[in-house]
Amino acid sequence: PPLLLLGRTCPAPACRRLYGMGSSSRPNAVVLGEAIAAEEVDLVVPSHDFSRDALVSSPEQYQQMYKRSIEDPAGFWSEIASQFDWKERWSPEVCSENIDVRKETVKIEWFKGGVTNICYNALDRNIEAGNGDKVALYWEGNEPGQDGQLTYAQLLEKVCQLASYLKHVGVGKGDAVVIYLPMLMELPIAMLACARIGAVHSVVFAGFSAESLSQRIIDCKPKVIISCNAVRRGAKVIHLKEIVDNALVESTKNGVPVDLRLIYENESAMDKETTKWQEGRDIWWQDIVPQFPTKCPVEWVDAEDPLFLLYTSGSTGKPKGVLHTTGGYMVYTATTFKYAFDYKPSDVYWCTADCGWITGHSYVTYGPLLNGATVLVFEGAPSYPDAGRCWDIVDKYKVTIFYTAPTLVRALMRDGDEYVTRYSRKSLRILGSVGEPINPSAWRWFYNVVGDSRCPISDTWWQTETGGFMITPIPGAWPQKPGSATFPFFGIEPVIVDEKGNELEGECSGYLCIKKSWPGAFRSLYGDHERYETTYFKPFAGYYFTGDGCSRDKDGYHWLTGRVDDVINVSGHRIGTAEVESALVSHPHCAEAAVVGVDHEVKGQSIYAFVTLVDGIPYSNEVRKSLILAVRSQIGAFAAPDKIHWAPGLPKTRSGKIMRRILRKIASRQLDELGDTSTLADPSVVDQLIEVSDR
Ligand code: WT7
Repeated sequence: PPLLLLGRTCPAPACRRLYGMGSSSRPNAVVLGEAIAAEEVDLVVPSHDFSRDALVSSPEQYQQMYKRSIEDPAGFWSEIASQFDWKERWSPEVCSENIDVRKETVKIEWFKGGVTNICYNALDRNIEAGNGDKVALYWEGNEPGQDGQLTYAQLLEKVCQLASYLKHVGVGKGDAVVIYLPMLMELPIAMLACARIGAVHSVVFAGFSAESLSQRIIDCKPKVIISCNAVRRGAKVIHLKEIVDNALVESTKNGVPVDLRLIYENESAMDKETTKWQEGRDIWWQDIVPQFPTKCPVEWVDAEDPLFLLYTSGSTGKPKGVLHTTGGYMVYTATTFKYAFDYKPSDVYWCTADCGWITGHSYVTYGPLLNGATVLVFEGAPSYPDAGRCWDIVDKYKVTIFYTAPTLVRALMRDGDEYVTRYSRKSLRILGSVGEPINPSAWRWFYNVVGDSRCPISDTWWQTETGGFMITPIPGAWPQKPGSATFPFFGIEPVIVDEKGNELEGECSGYLCIKKSWPGAFRSLYGDHERYETTYFKPFAGYYFTGDGCSRDKDGYHWLTGRVDDVINVSGHRIGTAEVESALVSHPHCAEAAVVGVDHEVKGQSIYAFVTLVDGIPYSNEVRKSLILAVRSQIGAFAAPDKIHWAPGLPKTRSGKIMRRILRKIASRQLDELGDTSTLADPSVVDQLIEVSDR
């Protein structure tokens, strides 16, 4: 394996006490105040009532189900899959896989030969079961008071109209469609419409720049792009249509023109009249889609036919098109949603993630709707107009399951308890966390203040690549430890290995890998199966390598410690250092750049860039600003470096490799931990860097 550096240290407090486990005389949830030291009480036990009503009520029940899922995966998963509608059943096997690169090419197949449709299973099936009048989507706009809703039956009609239109303009099975929309109901509608006709959607987060959007368009060559004219986020208006236009100028230059742009008029942000328009090529959604039939026949697809592409950042080069297929993804997202959130039909579920990320795919759109759940879609910013917005929304819709990211928890925690306690939040039952490790103090605040010490927290560890939850609490089953994602989901065998790939036993710390495939696993990187094998299956042969570090404590709880590769996690957004560096060096004044992540109180990590300018260019604030602008316009605002550190030179080995380990220490001012600098081509570079660091 390449030389990897373990990220953050494990926040795991030594587990001191285990009480109440599995016994009926379980004490109620322990109230954990900051005043109580982590070492004193570090287990949070679900209340007896909660566990009694939970889908999985005890560690024993979990263990029994888990054991079955590992010993008999075919039996376990086919029983679950049978609850969905299949036009034809899979055959001959439930799963066929090779994840060992030493044997032959990596291949993962689940339910192969099975014929189904995920949109049918999410909508038609639930309507047939009598849920047509149940609310499928609530929508809350940027401004309080702006809202909407669709029942399952209404959602199906909307999806069918768009699907009918897409078919009419020639989009068919296997064709790519790029969706560049904010969190309007039209976003899940567009995803489901593609799925209905077997088209492959590629949602691009509407915070990505024109350049990033064009890069993705060039890679997947869509027939249509679906977007809107503008969006309001907080007090800002973002002109998405202009970004789309610019992206398509670029993609056209690269031989990928997209002849059709379906644009939704997002009236509250911008009207038709002021939107730049090209007749013929640009089509207003509202002008055409409602004219199409509200029924659209389903395109039945093989379980292994592609469902979507989603681009994500890696440690090197251009973004990777993570490819997910239909059947396994359907079964896996539905099942993980159900158990990790202990789903009940009466729940109102809100996930704050955007559908532009995997969380919005699996746990705004597919997982919840496959379960017939009521889902809230929120267009706005979580602290607009003030830090109480989330709880205002929770009370307004009586949200029972609230799923968000640690960065938001920390930001709201800083704004103070008042914004929270002003609202009732009585409806809340379960809280969820995703995107990065949640530090124990944020966990406790979330638990005590937001959840009134009543709601278990599902800290779900997973990735774009895994499709669904991999290590997650099953609320009600286990006592929780603040900051630990606890135990593997059914069917998942996590292993922790050392640098040589040896599996470590018991209490240990190392690289997190997964043995064997699972239904929701990604099947390839679009157009680059070799990179798929090299990145994920070669570092530790015989395993899927996650890119994360992990510790296991003596009770078997897992503690994720962050990325061990050159990927930075800013507010739960994955950003490749190489991408930021390439944006920086594209600036004419930049000679060289090296980017590292440093711990950040709210964002988890922030981007810190070391930059050397071209000879003769004076180091100035102006250049600094224009470098940051280069990153914003090439990737997106969320990837902008927080700090540009002028570097007369960069620490390199004699072979020219930049030693990021040293840069990380300088960036976080851990100057006494620089380690061995003698292998550097020019060790004096380090002193120079330290000297200029306050400039
Ligand atoms: C990376 C995946 C999966 C949806 C959002 C991010 C980190 C994610 C957790 C968690 C610790 C987490 C990992 C992972 N991560 N969830 N609960 N605890 N770390 O998806 O962009 O594919 O990023 O996010 O480092 O590898 P993604």
